[in-house]
Amino acid sequence: FDTDPDHRPLFGKHVLVTAGPTHEPIDPVRYIANRSSGRQGFAIAAAAANAGARVTLVAGPVSLETPPGVERFDVESAEEMAAEVKRLLPADVAVMVAAVSDWRTKDFAEQKMKKRGSAPPALILTENPDILATVAGGTNRPGLLIGFAAETEDVVENAKIKRKRKGVDWIVANDVSGPVGTGVMGGNDNQVYIVTSEGVETLEEMPKQDVARALVERIAEALAGDAH
Ligand code: CTP
Ligand code: CA
Repeated sequence: FDTDPDHRPLFGKHVLVTAGPTHEPIDPVRYIANRSSGRQGFAIAAAAANAGARVTLVAGPVSLETPPGVERFDVESAEEMAAEVKRLLPADVAVMVAAVSDWRTKDFAEQKMKKRGSAPPALILTENPDILATVAGGTNRPGLLIGFAAETEDVVENAKIKRKRKGVDWIVANDVSGPVGTGVMGGNDNQVYIVTSEGVETLEEMPKQDVARALVERIAEALAGDAH
């Protein structure tokens, strides 16, 4: 256990992290999902805990071990994730890494849908709550609120627009185009841009653990700056 304050720059801080995909049920056996593995979010939770923070992690369905020192809450759907985030606030810092499904089915089928009948069923979708935007506009807004942005084109430009639209402090943008399954979504490495009110910092491509450490360093610097 490391008690050197230089090594525990987030001591006494509560850092809330969301990670992973969400699953939106269609019927008892089917769901809508996405390719998020949860690895970048889990790495950030781990790095924040290493920096001495109290870390709560709201995780969608992933197959990952809980990092040491992290308190984990599992959820399935976006609505469950929204409720859990609300319950766990306030926090000093929130990092919303989860790839929240933008839509869910309008009507959950209580029974398994059957093939019988002529035409395939149409999925009618409805929009999910925007957890990040809700937190940004809420009474319990963390002092430092960080969103992620998954983009496949015009990455930095879209991230700048998203930062303003959502009312968050930083957007960490990553390019999720590239090979399906072995690219950023599901892969080991990530290349991100940190978009703040001050400008854009481009980090080189590196393992997700290193991206996490770099981000936590900047979080610690930002909190130290606020204290003056
Ligand atoms: N997010 C959220 N709730 C949603 C959708 C997204 O909290 N219902 C959060 C994500 O966790 C991420 C940020 O918003 O931190 C940006 O997610 P992204 O999918 O890139 O942005 P959207 O606003 O959903 O826009 P779009 O997918 O249309 O680009
Ligand atoms: Ca989205």
